[in-house]
Amino acid sequence: MIELAPSILSADFACLGEQVSRAAEGGGTVIHVDVMDGHFVPNITLGPQLVKSLRKATKLPLDCHLMIENPDQYIPAFAEAGADWMSVHVEACRHLDRTLNLIKTHGCHAGVVINPATPVDALSEVLDVVDYVLVMSVNPGFGAQPFIPNSLHKLCQLKDLRERKGLHYRIEVDGGVSLDTVGQIVRAGAEILVAGNAVFSHGDPMVNAQQLLKAAFEATLQKV
Ligand code: DX5
Ligand code: ZN
Repeated sequence: MIELAPSILSADFACLGEQVSRAAEGGGTVIHVDVMDGHFVPNITLGPQLVKSLRKATKLPLDCHLMIENPDQYIPAFAEAGADWMSVHVEACRHLDRTLNLIKTHGCHAGVVINPATPVDALSEVLDVVDYVLVMSVNPGFGAQPFIPNSLHKLCQLKDLRERKGLHYRIEVDGGVSLDTVGQIVRAGAEILVAGNAVFSHGDPMVNAQQLLKAAFEATLQKV
């Protein structure tokens, strides 16, 4: 099943609740929340306080993408604020297995993320622990960057590995998802599509979300 996860990074924070509602009306089923600390990535965004506000504004699951160093220190606060899913970067975790289990002990779905320069092989020992794998298709830190085509083979690889090993993680992709790229992304195996710029940067988030999902579903039909 394909799901759209609108990323609030490109939304208008002055009317965030309304923007999230519009994206949900357009078919968004997960709200992607980009947490940046100015250390792991060269940008700063938001923390648990905003997640707490968002929690009151939507019933949809909140997918917190932690682009931060030392995530263990903040996982309890994000869980307390209302996060439903939490993902951490393999590049930021010294004790990845411990961190993923920490997310789970707080009752959240646990995801692991790989940057464009990190191979899928780096995840071999945690694929049976995670609920989802997030493939970054841009270098994390900013919205509206161009899609890196090298990510496609990682999506295929993750799909094949899951089947071969009888595992159950879902496959998420983040960065440069647009009407131009979504077809190839879906055909490669992505199931959860994060999109910020394509949903929030112009026009009506409801219409943008609808169009993106329509293009994604059409691509799944082409595959058969
Ligand atoms: C980038 C973030 C993304 C970002 C994607 O570091 O992780 O979630 O919002 O943005 P777009 O869809 O604009 O490429
Ligand atoms: Zn993200």
